[in-house]
Amino acid sequence: MTEPGKALYIIACAAGPAGDVGRLVTMAQEQGWTTQIIATPSALDFIDVPELEKLTGRPVRSRYRKPSEPKPPRADAIIVAPATYNTINKFAHGICDTYALGLLAEAPGLGIPVVVLPFVNSALASREPFRRSVETLRAEGVHVLLGPGRFEPHAPSSGAEVVETYPWHLTLPELGEFD
Ligand SMILES: Cc1cc2nc3c(=O)[nH]c(=O)nc-3n(C[C@H](O)[C@H](O)[C@H](O)COP(=O)(O)O)c2cc1C
Repeated sequence: MTEPGKALYIIACAAGPAGDVGRLVTMAQEQGWTTQIIATPSALDFIDVPELEKLTGRPVRSRYRKPSEPKPPRADAIIVAPATYNTINKFAHGICDTYALGLLAEAPGLGIPVVVLPFVNSALASREPFRRSVETLRAEGVHVLLGPGRFEPHAPSSGAEVVETYPWHLTLPELGEFD
């Protein structure tokens, strides 16, 4: 159980499991987290925004606020799930062209724990740039849940068949592994 009221930002990217991100919200709420969904612009097509807003009691955010709008509270922890090939590579390279990536760009420097649960097929996961991105993020203290007993890449074009087995449940306990 986490300290009540701690803010967990859940960043959903544009991959099949995003439609089930409410499952992670419910698990986190049961552990006492206040949850905030951040969607990449592409992920908006994969999620049910009104349903998630009802579940979290907060607007789903996918773009930067206007300068005149109030600053939202800082995250105590961030989970990126599902994390795409695109967002993982951009995060590792410091690219900051979506609101989600803007939050991620600062998080390691602010000491905010970040857990990344990828959803990529084996063709994407085998690419050298992707493997380097995972190494880079791990070297910066980001916990990337990729490998045996974590997320294991599926065969290309089989994502829809394995979406139900996506291991959402691994993310929250991983937050307890940060110092
Ligand atoms: C139906 C559909 C399923 C997709 N599934 C995946 C996926 O499983 N993993 C992945 O990395 N990209 C997947 N993509 C591609 C991403 O949506 C695309 O790279 C997008 O630019 C990612 O944007 P984001 O990282 O900002 O969310 C999928 C695209 C579509 C249309």
